[in-house]
Amino acid sequence: MSAQKLRIAVYPGSFDPVTNGHLDLISRCAPLVDRLIVAVLRNAGKQPLFSVEERVEMLRQATAEMPNVEVDSFDGLLVEYARRRGACLLLRGIRAISDYEYELQMALMNRRLAPEIETMFMMAGEAYSFLSSRLVKEVIALGGDVSGLVPPQVEAKLKERLPARFPARGTTGQSPV
Ligand code: PNS
Repeated sequence: MSAQKLRIAVYPGSFDPVTNGHLDLISRCAPLVDRLIVAVLRNAGKQPLFSVEERVEMLRQATAEMPNVEVDSFDGLLVEYARRRGACLLLRGIRAISDYEYELQMALMNRRLAPEIETMFMMAGEAYSFLSSRLVKEVIALGGDVSGLVPPQVEAKLKERLPARFPARGTTGQSPV
C-alpha cells in the first residue's frame, strides 16, 4: 500500500498578538488536517508591537494542547514557504465582507504563483467577527477591558507593553482627562 500524502495546512499572519479569534480558527481547522502550521510573517515593513520571537512564543503557549499544531515563522513569499513545508493548503479567516476583497486578491495571486496550493477561507466565529489584533491593542492602550478576547498570558503581556494612557472610569477614581 502506498504511503498516503499528509494534508499539511499553513495559517499565515502577523499575529501581533494572537487573539481568541485566531485561536478559534486554529482549533476548528486543526481536526480537518494532519498538521496545521501557524506561520508568523517576519515583515520588516511593518512596525509590530511584539517581536517575531514573542509572537511565536505566545502562539506556542496558546496552542500547546493542540498536538497537530506547529508554530513557525517565515519570510519571503508565502507560497515558497508553503512548498518548502510540503503544504497543500493555505488557511485564512474572513470576518466580514470588508475582508473579502483583500483576501481574494491574495488568494488569486497565490494561486497564480502556486496553482497546486489551495486557499481555504473559514468564517470567523460569530463571537469574534469584530475582533482584530489592532483593535485589541488600541483598547488596551486606552485602558479598556479585553478579557475573553485574547488568552490571559497575552493580555498580561499587552498590559506590560502598553501601559494604559486612560484607565477606564472607576479603576482609579481619577478623571481620564
Ligand atoms: O495577518 P496579516 O497581516 O493579514 O497577514 C498577511 C500575510 C502574512 C498573509 C501576507 O502579508 C503574506 O502572505 N505575506 C508574505 C509575502 C507574500 O507572499 N506576498 C504575496 C501574497 S499575495
